[in-house]
Amino acid sequence: MRSRIKWALGLVIVALAAVGIWRIEVGSQAVLTHVYAQPQRPLAIAPAPQMIAEGQRLVRINGCSACHGAGNTGHVVLTGWLGTRLVAPNLTVLAHRLSTRQLASALRYGVKPDGTSVVSMPAQRFLRESDADVAAMIAYLQSVPSKAGTAGKTQWGLIGKAMLATGLIPAAAADLQPSERGPLHTPVAPMALGRYLTHTQCSACHGRHLSGEAEQDSPDLRFAIKHYTLAAFESFFRTGVGQLGHGTPHMTPLIRSRFHELSTAEVSAIYVYLNHSKARG
Ligand code: HEC
Ligand code: HEC
Repeated sequence: MRSRIKWALGLVIVALAAVGIWRIEVGSQAVLTHVYAQPQRPLAIAPAPQMIAEGQRLVRINGCSACHGAGNTGHVVLTGWLGTRLVAPNLTVLAHRLSTRQLASALRYGVKPDGTSVVSMPAQRFLRESDADVAAMIAYLQSVPSKAGTAGKTQWGLIGKAMLATGLIPAAAADLQPSERGPLHTPVAPMALGRYLTHTQCSACHGRHLSGEAEQDSPDLRFAIKHYTLAAFESFFRTGVGQLGHGTPHMTPLIRSRFHELSTAEVSAIYVYLNHSKARG
């Protein structure tokens, strides 16, 4: 009798596990194969050769190589989680294989040429960038000759699939607010430029309202800025050395790898805008 109950219990557990795995499989496939409408006009400015140098600077500021690897020749962003291998593809190859339209639509809307969404690629951030900045980045990517790099495709193991199925890892295209699309041209006036730069470069960590995010351990910029003079702020963005004396383990590498490329005018525009937010907030 006892052993029959044990058997029955064992069968129930195996059946439950099978149902769980089946649901994870179906749920993750639904996320990975869902087809999104191609955006009507992903880019309103055509990439041109005179934009290449600016595009290279913007690609650095935006930190593409943090995921796509040195020289953007592809990089395995993550391995583990019972067989997940997340690949950020070789952009020097993709930039020649995809059309300008396809590149812009993947970059800004997260929609790949086959209509499926990118996963783990911050399209929402790039959507807020101006058409001019995106055109410049694409002009640069298209100017770089193809190089050998990391090959292979993303593979999802059980834990990765469970995270997809439960929405812990979202499909970028599903999450996107098309109303947040950036302006046609990058603003020039300091206040508008400062607002544009903080919302494209800083709010990913400091929050939509720049009020800091506990999860990221990032401070409220409307308060942090009070402790900085313009000269100290500029020095922070040149050297990566924070001025408040308590260490900046996240900002220092970020400035040294990306934000040191911001021009003096851009850094001072950010300062002007943050001070304005401080006064209001
Ligand atoms: C946080 C990491 C991350 C950053 C930063 C990032 N990417 Fe990606 N990118 C990825 C990953 C991962 C993929 C693969 C997504 C997929 O296939 O689902 C990808 C895919 C792409 C694709 C290919 C879409 C397709 O059609 O297969 C393009 C183009 C691209 N990225 C361009 C860029 C550019 C340009 C930048 C910088 C402006 C950038 N990425 C920054 C992670 C990133
Ligand atoms: C990848 C996440 C991330 C991004 C992007 C980011 N920050 Fe930060 N920032 C942090 C974190 C985390 C801290 C807390 C200190 C640290 O760990 O470096 C911080 C601290 C700061 C501080 C306080 C420095 C000090 O002396 O204590 C300032 C000012 C600041 N950030 C400005 C900015 C600005 C301006 C931008 C956009 C150009 C930006 N940050 C983009 C994560 C980020």
